[in-house]
Formats: sequence, structure tokens, C-alpha cells
Amino acid sequence: MSDFMKAMNFRHACKLFDEKKKIPVPVFDEILEAGRLSPSSFGTEPWHFLVITSNEVKAALRPACWNQPQITTCSHFVMLLVRKPQDFEFGSAFLNETFTRRANTPDKLSAICGAFDNFIRSDLKPDVLNWAKMQTYIAGGNMMTAAAFLGVDTCAIEGFNFNALTDALARAVPSVDLTRYEIAWNIAFGYRVNEQQPRYRFPREKVTTFI
Ligand SMILES: Cc1cc2nc3c(=O)[nH]c(=O)nc-3n(C[C@H](O)[C@H](O)[C@H](O)COP(=O)(O)O)c2cc1C
Repeated sequence: MSDFMKAMNFRHACKLFDEKKKIPVPVFDEILEAGRLSPSSFGTEPWHFLVITSNEVKAALRPACWNQPQITTCSHFVMLLVRKPQDFEFGSAFLNETFTRRANTPDKLSAICGAFDNFIRSDLKPDVLNWAKMQTYIAGGNMMTAAAFLGVDTCAIEGFNFNALTDALARAVPSVDLTRYEIAWNIAFGYRVNEQQPRYRFPREKVTTFI
């Protein structure tokens, strides 16, 4: 089995982490790099990774996350924040900064901004926030796979009340700009206490079609 497939089999939704085991800085840096290097539609990187290691902050967030023990037992709790639609409006400072990196003339900048605006306004992508959130799942998925490759356990956390978690975050970390970002989803990172629970997957023939 390849090292990559070993990592895919190692990963599971870890329900309880060993509170005493912390992820070393270089290991977590690599996990973050996997997120930062992830692809995104139009290269917009519409995410921000809020990394929480403070026990007080984790405890403040846990009740809004269905009181799940992963939140307070993990080593690093990462909130995947997503940029709100205002940043994707034509001519926004964020879009200009984003596209100027690859468009080195005013004509190229204007062309890519126009193409993006057309894309955003097309019938296929009516919900800009949802489109931006989908990008965060690519980055988070890569971070989870990278973690597994490095022997770090994870649990994706979508089990939360959006309003309650937003309020708790605003109170616990007032420096987060919630006018610009909102919570997409979260991932707990750490080291397992218990063995992996049984894995259920449909057979390959059910979920795959070759033509
Ligand atoms: C986006 C997403 C959100 C999830 N949210 C939670 C959660 O809040 N709590 C939890 O215990 N598991 C959560 N899970 C874990 C899934 O239940 C789990 O991945 C699935 O049952 C398959 O099990 P496995 O990951 O162990 O293979 C989430 C998974 C994903 C992909």
C-alpha cells in the first residue's frame, strides 16, 4: 500500500483527543501549508484559517459546537472562515489585490475582473457566499489529508449552531473581523485516545461509473 493510501486509511473522524499531546510547531506548519497551497476558483483563496490553541477560547466555543468533546480535547482547533460577498463585488480592494498578482497590465486586470464578475453573476453561481464556502472545503480537506500523512488525527466539525458560535467567537476573540468574514466550518486536530471506529463506505461500483 502506498504511503498516501496508508494516510487515507489512518484518517478517521476522531471523537476524543489526548489533551496532553500537542502538535509540534513544524508539523502544524506543514498542515497549514497544505491549506494555503490549495486550489481555489479563480485563485481567490477566499479563506482565513483561525487557529485556536487557547484552552479558554476552546472552552468558550464548545457549547455552540453541540458541546462536542473534540473542541476542548484537541491540540489545535481551526475555524475555517470565509470572506463575505462584499469582497467579491466588482472593483473591491480584495479582488484588485487578488487579480493584480497575475495580471501585470491594466488591460489584463480589467479582462480578468470582467470575466470573474460575469462568472459570479451567471446563473450557475447565484450564491456567492456558498461558492466561497465550497472553496474552504478544498483547503480543509487537504489539511485533513496532510494531517493524516503526518500522523495527526482530525475531526471535521460542522456540528455547530452558526449564530451561537459566531456570538461566542465575537466574545472570546473580539479581534476577528466578522464584518468581513463568517464561519464556514471547523476542524479539530490532535492525537487520538481511542482506536478508530468501524468505517462504512459504499462499494466502489456504487459510487463510480466509467464510461
Ligand atoms: C464537513 C464535515 C463535517 C463533519 N462534522 C462532524 C461533527 O461535527 N462531529 C463529528 O463527530 N463528526 C463530524 N464529521 C465526521 C463524519 O461524521 C465522518 O467523516 C463520517 O461519518 C465518516 O467517518 P470517518 O471520517 O471516520 O471515515 C464531519 C465530516 C465532514 C466531512
